[in-house]
Amino acid sequence: MVQIAPSMLAADFLNLEKDVELVNRYADLFHLDVMDGVFVPNISYGFPVVEAIGRKAEKPLDVHLMIVKPENYVERFAKAGAEMISFHLNATEDPAAVLKQIRDNGAKAGLVINPDLPVESLFPYLKDADFVMLMSVFAGFGGQKFIEETYARVQALREEIERQGLELPIEVDGGVSASNAAALVKAGAEILVAGSAVFKAEDPAAVIAAMRGE
Ligand code: DX5
Ligand code: ZN
Repeated sequence: MVQIAPSMLAADFLNLEKDVELVNRYADLFHLDVMDGVFVPNISYGFPVVEAIGRKAEKPLDVHLMIVKPENYVERFAKAGAEMISFHLNATEDPAAVLKQIRDNGAKAGLVINPDLPVESLFPYLKDADFVMLMSVFAGFGGQKFIEETYARVQALREEIERQGLELPIEVDGGVSASNAAALVKAGAEILVAGSAVFKAEDPAAVIAAMRGE
């Protein structure tokens, strides 16, 4: 079954509790985008916001690190309540070691690539990961247009996961909405991140239901 992970980057920061309740009620995960202004040309939010959401969250926190040297912060994000922590393949020198570090800190470990890296670059690390994430926009900003090549990338990754006899969910992040959710699930995605599509909607609960195919 598909899981919907609203990206809190698009939430109302003056009324975060309302949007946290929306996720608790209708969605499956809190997707939290952490940007450092170095790995990506934007800065989002950090520990105080993650911890505050964590205090009200009844669904797991899925922290997406868009920062260089994620190994320096894994422990703190795990302590802040992250149940899932993902980082970018090219943000660190030893991705396998960071995956292990995340697991050692009691969280699920995820590896992410931007659209300009081949899916094959993930293949050597699949056996050490708990989930993998394909960006369907270039990481750094919410509200971008979905890149259509993502379907073929999800499918290629799904085939390799099966070839290796693994059971990793594929998460897709960026420009995801009710209009492309079904095709992504068909291609083999199991976790869908959506920021603008959910929080800028008149009826977020209806969008989440539509993304589930209901
Ligand atoms: C982009 C972030 C995404 C983003 C998704 O760098 O990783 O999670 O917030 O937002 P939408 O759904 O608006 O593209
Ligand atoms: Zn993200």
